[in-house]
Amino acid sequence: MDKNENYQLLLAQVKAMVKDESDAVANMANVAALIQETFHFWWTGFYRVIGEQLVLGPFQGPVACTRISFGKGVCGTVWKEKRTIVVEDVEQFPGHIACSSESRSEIVVPLIKDGEVIGVLDIDSERLATFDETDRLWLEQISEVVAATL
Ligand code: SME
Repeated sequence: MDKNENYQLLLAQVKAMVKDESDAVANMANVAALIQETFHFWWTGFYRVIGEQLVLGPFQGPVACTRISFGKGVCGTVWKEKRTIVVEDVEQFPGHIACSSESRSEIVVPLIKDGEVIGVLDIDSERLATFDETDRLWLEQISEVVAATL
């Protein structure tokens, strides 16, 4: 299967999985697992907006930073700018927060509900330039489904 076919199946699985489950943590946990089972990225997880910070939520992968402030790092910038950011080389992103020295590229997608960012989906790769427009389009659809359950 190519990347589009993998994402097509993944999106269908995500929709089916959250359909009958209203618990946010359960849904974020299983969506992170589904993404990992499909693509085996270095790290896949969620941060939720709690007060003035993004706080680590369900994830798959190595231990990560627990709190990120508004406007800081890739995640905090996505929160501030309310848009997906694709980083081909984390060393070129000013203020990138290195939770793991293995991470080389990254995509962060906002979870938006009622026009507000309520969290982010963050995926890291140990290879450069892993993510492109195809990933952005599919992951935004997945994030939309997840955000609706939060
Ligand atoms: N690199 C992110 C921090 C989160 S970890 O990658 C899991 C950032 O710069 O916001």
